[in-house]
Amino acid sequence: MEIVSRRDFMKSVAVAGAVAASSSASDASGDARLQPVFLSTWPFGQAANEQAAKVFHSGGSLLDAVEKGINVVEDDPKVMSVGYGGLPNEDGVVELDAGIMDGTRHRAGSICNLHHIKNPISVARLVMEKTRHTTMAGEGAFLFALKMGFHAEQLLTPASLERWLKWKATPNHLTYWITPENHDTIGMVATDGNGHIVAGCSTSGLAWKIPGRVADSPLVGCGFYADDQAGGASATGDGDLMTNYCTSISIVRMMERGASPQEACNELLQHMAQTDSRNKESQSAVIAMNPRGEVGAASMNAQFRLQYALWRNGQSHLLLSEVLY
Ligand code: GLY
Repeated sequence: MEIVSRRDFMKSVAVAGAVAASSSASDASGDARLQPVFLSTWPFGQAANEQAAKVFHSGGSLLDAVEKGINVVEDDPKVMSVGYGGLPNEDGVVELDAGIMDGTRHRAGSICNLHHIKNPISVARLVMEKTRHTTMAGEGAFLFALKMGFHAEQLLTPASLERWLKWKATPNHLTYWITPENHDTIGMVATDGNGHIVAGCSTSGLAWKIPGRVADSPLVGCGFYADDQAGGASATGDGDLMTNYCTSISIVRMMERGASPQEACNELLQHMAQTDSRNKESQSAVIAMNPRGEVGAASMNAQFRLQYALWRNGQSHLLLSEVLY
C-alpha cells in the first residue's frame, strides 16, 4: 500500500478511527482474566487477528494462531507489501522476509529474501521447529522450503507486475535510496491469556529494493521479539532505519524493567528522535504487549500513523496509535 493511498484511506476512516480510538484506553488496559489477545499492525491485521483467534479457539497452539493469522495477509493479493502480490525488488523478483518467536523457549525462526514461496512465516516456523538454525536466506531458504513440501509459484500478480513495469519505464525513476516506498509489514504479538507470548512478522520489504536487501522484519530483536517474562513487540516502517535501533528487543527489555507497553513504545521512538532529529520525519511505528495482555502502539509522526488491530474478548477493534511528533 503506498503512503499516498494510505493518506486517502486514512481520511476516509478518520471518523471511524477517532471513535475507535476513544475506546483504546480500556482496550489497551487488559485485565486479569485468562483470555487470548491478538495485536497486529495495520487494517489488514484485523483479518489476521480474527483467523488467529479462530485457530486458537479450535485447539491450535499460540504459534499456530500467529502463523495462520499472518498467512491470511500473505495470501491476500490485494496487500502489496506482504507475501503473494507484494511489490518486487528492482529486478522484478518478489523477495519475502519473515520471522516468528516463541517466548517460552526464547527460540525464533526467520527467513530472508525468500523467492517464489508465498508463506515465509510458515517457512520461518519450520526453521525454528525442524532445524538447529535460526535464520536462513536466499537460495538456501528456497531449497529448504521445497524440501519442507512448499511449492514454487509466481508471486507477481498482474497488479504488482504492472506497478513494477511502470516504475521501470519511468525515466529517471526514483530508486530505493531516494524515496522509501511500501512499508506495511504485518507484525503480530499474541498472548494465550496465561502469560505465554508469541510474536511474528512478514513483509515483501521495500518496493524496488536492491536484490538481497534485508531489513528489520526477519531479524530477531528488530522486527519481532517475544519473551514470556517480559512481553513481545513488533515494528513496521523504514526497516533500514529501524534495524539500527533493534526496536523490538529494546521495547521488550523496557517492559521487563517495569515500563507499560505504551511507555516502552513511546520511549523507543523518543530515543530514535533524540539520537537523530531527522528520525522525527521517518516512517517508524511499533506495537507491544506484556504478559498480562496490556498493549501499546506508537507512531513517530502523523504522516505515518499506525492503525492497529486488537482482538480481545471476542471483539475485533481497529485503533489509532499514539503519535509522538
Ligand atoms: N519494515 C519492513 C522493511 O523495511 O522491509
